[in-house]
Amino acid sequence: MSIELSQSALQAHFGAVCTAPIFLAHCDRAEPDMPLSDGESLAGEGMASEKRRAEYLLGRCALKAVLAGLGRDADTAAIRWPSPFCSLSHSHGHAVAVGLAGGQGIGIDLQLQKKPPFAVAERILTGATAAYWDGLPDADKAAALQRFWTVNEAVYKACPAPQPAYFRHYRMHAPAAMDGEVSIDGTDYRFRVHTAMLTDGFVSLALRL
Ligand SMILES: CC(C)(COP(=O)(O)OP(=O)(O)OC[C@H]1O[C@@H](n2cnc3c(N)ncnc32)[C@H](O)[C@@H]1OP(=O)(O)O)[C@@H](O)C(=O)NCCC(=O)NCCS
Repeated sequence: MSIELSQSALQAHFGAVCTAPIFLAHCDRAEPDMPLSDGESLAGEGMASEKRRAEYLLGRCALKAVLAGLGRDADTAAIRWPSPFCSLSHSHGHAVAVGLAGGQGIGIDLQLQKKPPFAVAERILTGATAAYWDGLPDADKAAALQRFWTVNEAVYKACPAPQPAYFRHYRMHAPAAMDGEVSIDGTDYRFRVHTAMLTDGFVSLALRL
């Protein structure tokens, strides 16, 4: 069943399934007078298009709310990605940011509308996940691949740099479930991943264990 893409619905959903106390903010309208640091203004002005600049500002709006919840400095330009304590994703006019006090890795990924082409499946799925996806009815494959894509991207963002492996080495332990564990082959990295279905996409949250 899908949930609404709103701060209250996301907070209620992830608050119920996460054992860690996370901060979450959703933004679909950047405040016109949002204070920006010099670094943020510079980064915004350097964006390649007006669309990307709008997306960047929407992201700052969500990220700053999370940083305030964490009691951290509001300057998002000072954050080095991947960050152990916060993460941001934007898609089609929506931004979602998450934060974790004392975190050791957190990732969020929001994908609306755009479904990955089936050709990427062999590049990003492995083992039980690939077998599960292969066995799905054709009508369910596009949505499942979009879900797995958000799982992989959320894990990528929650994983410390340098990235140890390609997506095809990300192993989902229960691909049919919306909440489960992911490990990365050849490493000790393990993540708890929670996914919510939205009306036209998915949002996944990964917490490094
Ligand atoms: C960097 C990346 C994670 C961004 O994800 P995306 O889905 O394109 O975009 P999202 O909106 O979800 O996330 C963008 C935000 O993630 C954050 N981000 C950027 N680089 C990041 C990184 N290396 N780790 C964690 N977060 C990162 C930033 O906050 C960025 O927003 P901003 O530029 O406005 O500050 C993605 O482009 C990427 O490189 N993914 C890995 C792809 C890959 O290796 N594939 C292998 C296939 S086998």
